[in-house]
Amino acid sequence: MVVAIDGPAGAGKSSVARAVAAALGFTYLDSGAMYRCVGLAAFERGAEPAEVAGEVRIELGERILLDGRDVTDAIRTPEASEAASRAAADPVVRRALVTQQQRIVADGDWVAEGRDIGTVVAPDAAVKVFLTASPEERARRRAVQIGADVATVLAEQTIRDERDTTREHDPLAAADDAVALDTTGLSLEDVVARVTALVAEQRKS
Ligand code: CDP
Ligand code: CDP
Repeated sequence: MVVAIDGPAGAGKSSVARAVAAALGFTYLDSGAMYRCVGLAAFERGAEPAEVAGEVRIELGERILLDGRDVTDAIRTPEASEAASRAAADPVVRRALVTQQQRIVADGDWVAEGRDIGTVVAPDAAVKVFLTASPEERARRRAVQIGADVATVLAEQTIRDERDTTREHDPLAAADDAVALDTTGLSLEDVVARVTALVAEQRKS
């Protein structure tokens, strides 16, 4: 079974997906971490993301390894976010990573989060959730999370949201059959409870 969670930056995808996976005993897939690894590798090598996408070895788990090196923190900087979003607009990169993601979720129970899980990676997912929140709230959450200034985070987030929603290949979009959840003003616990309830309903039917 796949639970797909998509949405823009700071909507709460990672936190919600992690908690839902833990509650249900599913495995968590952070697809954004893969784009972040490709973006970081391209930046560090001064190469095109398309050149490195097929070469790098990405290991996802408690720590994230790029060709055996621990990049868990390095992929979370604002520069790495920007590099990831640029890399993610390249169809060659997308094809390489979507293929890997589809292999990963083919067996077992998964909570997978990203931008195109419900539309491209797992269009047959049993449960699809599209998380949103106002841009200001998303920036405020991220600013608290990384100890940065809200205005700076909002400016970077706006550029990334715009690129993610307007790119030609697999843009950020809610699947037609996704449940949209505006989390503005909701606590993380509220959101986790709602998503867990959607999975329980689906299992009953
Ligand atoms: O993965 P994504 O960028 O969508 O967001 P995240 O990293 O999971 O969440 C950003 C921050 O917002 C985290 O510190 C969460 O604890 C916080 N938060 C949330 O995710 N959902 C709420 N309803 C309230 C706060
Ligand atoms: O946590 P946050 O939502 O800020 O970012 P992320 O999920 O780690 O994704 C980083 C970047 O990778 C995004 O800005 C997207 O450009 C890209 N991405 C994507 O295109 N497709 C996915 N399934 C996941 C991420």
